Amino acid sequence: MKVAVVGATGLVGEVMLKVLEERSFPVSELIPVASERSVGKLISYKSKDYKVVGLQDAIKMKPNIALFSAGGDTSLKWAPKFAEAGITVIDNSSAWRMDHSKQLVVPEINADKLTANDKIIANPNCSTIQMVVALAPLHKKYKIKRIVVSTYQSITGTGVKAVRQLENEVAGIKGEMAYHYPIYQNAIPHCDVFEENGYTKEEMKLVRETQKILDDRTIAITATAVRIPTAGGHSEAVNVEFESDFDISDVRKILNESEGVVVQDNIDVNTYPMPIYANGKDDVFVGRIRRDGSQPNTLNMWIVSDNLRKGAATNTIQIAEYLLKNNLI
Ligand code: A2P
Repeated sequence: MKVAVVGATGLVGEVMLKVLEERSFPVSELIPVASERSVGKLISYKSKDYKVVGLQDAIKMKPNIALFSAGGDTSLKWAPKFAEAGITVIDNSSAWRMDHSKQLVVPEINADKLTANDKIIANPNCSTIQMVVALAPLHKKYKIKRIVVSTYQSITGTGVKAVRQLENEVAGIKGEMAYHYPIYQNAIPHCDVFEENGYTKEEMKLVRETQKILDDRTIAITATAVRIPTAGGHSEAVNVEFESDFDISDVRKILNESEGVVVQDNIDVNTYPMPIYANGKDDVFVGRIRRDGSQPNTLNMWIVSDNLRKGAATNTIQIAEYLLKNNLI
């Protein structure tokens, strides 16, 4: 497989290279792609150096697959050009996620929808992926009626600029700002841009993408997304109301048996998921599983995952693995 990584110099791109190597994805030739600023820079993969190329040159090099993580504008403009050249694109931006003709895929849930005709495949938003990985198996059994989610999101989700902002603030250095406010010792209830309805785009991604992935527009969802100064992953407090009642021990059993989910839940010894444990791992960690006593059929839980891994790079590469295994590329 000739693999192009578009955005190879970015945070997600770097993790993509790591995950490709760790999972022994059969890369015969790596094509690192970034903006014109980075063309000619060297990127190391499996102890070999590769020169960064621009997007047009990347198409000419005819990769079999292109993993995009270079922002929505780049994807909107370039993913169709790659697709036209017969290259399968898995896109990590929000550009194609809600496009009716594109599949929005979390392999544990809906990879079976993919066909060889899907030339641009959308990777969901990081905070959506970790939530649906934990919720899909419960939805199957109890059918979700309503979700109330509050996120505590890592600065790594904003990219290199935000990581630098936090580092500078910790060191007391004045520098470029990724956010409107300092993030060090702060919590900013503003992830991505505001929409006309008063919610942020990140909050609406949790609503729209979850409904699309679970293939159920009747699920009511409301979200508050907050940026906090952590680096290891996103955390989510999730309150979920089901159509039917559940037994907490069954909920634990289902989660324990679900692919990609690790239950970390023992309050007797203060065990619960946290970004410091999720950091660098591919799983979705679930804990603080408890009944919401304020209304029937309702559950509370705490979900943590490394947003650069399962929330981005790992999910993308799992999609590529599925395509390969099923002869779809
Ligand atoms: P570059 O490093 O050349 O700017 P992050 O989200 O971590 O900041 O990373 C964004 C990634 O997307 C980087 O690899 C960046 O490359 C790449 N990128 C940004 N704009 C473009 C563009 N117009 N064309 C190609 N790659 C881009």
